[in-house]
Amino acid sequence: MINGLWSAIAPALSNGLTTVGLLAMILDTSPVIGDQLHRFLTGVVSVVWAAITAGVLLDLRRMHGRESRLAHLASAEGLIDVASVLSLPLGWLVTSEPGDALLFVLVWSLRYIRHTAGLALFWRVMQRSRTALLSIASLFVAIFFAASTLAFVVERHSQPDAFGSIPRAMWWAIVTITTTGYGDVVPVSLWGRLLGGWVMVGGVVMFALWAGIIATAFAEELQRRHFLHTWDLVATVPFFQKLGAATVADIVRLLESRDVGQGTVIIRKGDPGDTMYFLVSGEATVQLAEPVVLQPGSFFGEMALLFGAPRSATVVATAPSVLLVLDIADLRELAGRRPELVDLIEAEARRRSAENAKAVASAAAVPAAVPLETASHP
Ligand code: CMP
Repeated sequence: MINGLWSAIAPALSNGLTTVGLLAMILDTSPVIGDQLHRFLTGVVSVVWAAITAGVLLDLRRMHGRESRLAHLASAEGLIDVASVLSLPLGWLVTSEPGDALLFVLVWSLRYIRHTAGLALFWRVMQRSRTALLSIASLFVAIFFAASTLAFVVERHSQPDAFGSIPRAMWWAIVTITTTGYGDVVPVSLWGRLLGGWVMVGGVVMFALWAGIIATAFAEELQRRHFLHTWDLVATVPFFQKLGAATVADIVRLLESRDVGQGTVIIRKGDPGDTMYFLVSGEATVQLAEPVVLQPGSFFGEMALLFGAPRSATVVATAPSVLLVLDIADLRELAGRRPELVDLIEAEARRRSAENAKAVASAAAVPAAVPLETASHP
């Protein structure tokens, strides 16, 4: 309970403390800060450092065993923790100017990403696309060296200050490749300008490639996570359990998971229907004259899809539930590839439809009630 509460508030607390510490460090660089305020801001940064250090030690204490502690310290999050703790003492140790030590707490800004799930995602994306990114990086280095050398060759006589050596020309090359263009150094010869044009275009193409690779890797990683999450859910539905891994993989691609709260109307009677649902957990009730309570593992919403009719009943989540949603286009695709599955769904739909028709017929067969007045006072 306490652990759960701590895990819930720790990120917010850490982010709040980090913000206070960083703001104090930033304010301390202002020339209008007097001695007294400087001491106060140093005090604030020191208190934040002490709190961060205590938090890091507490986290380590809560971990079981030496191995898991070492594994944590070697992870990206652990390294951020270590750097945060070492920052201020290192600052005191290596700086001589008053106030400079506080600049070391800049590493605390990494603590913001430490608490987001995005850090792990980013790390994975970088790892997965590292070959492609490295190829572009080597292309970048090649263009950079070529641009610096050629600029040196064509511009050295007219502008010896800026292009008199390859290291000097490198400044122009990096500013041009990244298309930053400060404009402090510009080629003046025809060949120099032609070179500048090519380098700019090369820079734009390279950054576009880089952005494309990273964006694709992010999208693939998110898709993979979604796939694994849905797979876990599908595995709990008995309807799918007898299928082989290949079939499940086929189906997982077609399903979307959805969480619904208690009381949510999932299906409304009379509406047109284009999705059916598998109940993974929770409970749903079909509101018929004789309500039908559906348990995890059942499906519903199939009748409108298969018979092309409006929804035959309202279905409400009678407990917080997790659903897998299959839309009509995907059901058709499934019917083409796995007709035996859709046959099972259709058989159940026919059974339900017959049951409902029987219930309606027996309700109609009950003689109409005689009005009370006539019955009691002949
Ligand atoms: P549909 O008609 O699309 O929308 C309402 C759903 O309620 C329906 O599909 C079935 O999935 C479900 N349903 C209707 N009648 C019954 C029944 N007798 N037993 C279980 N489920 C039913």
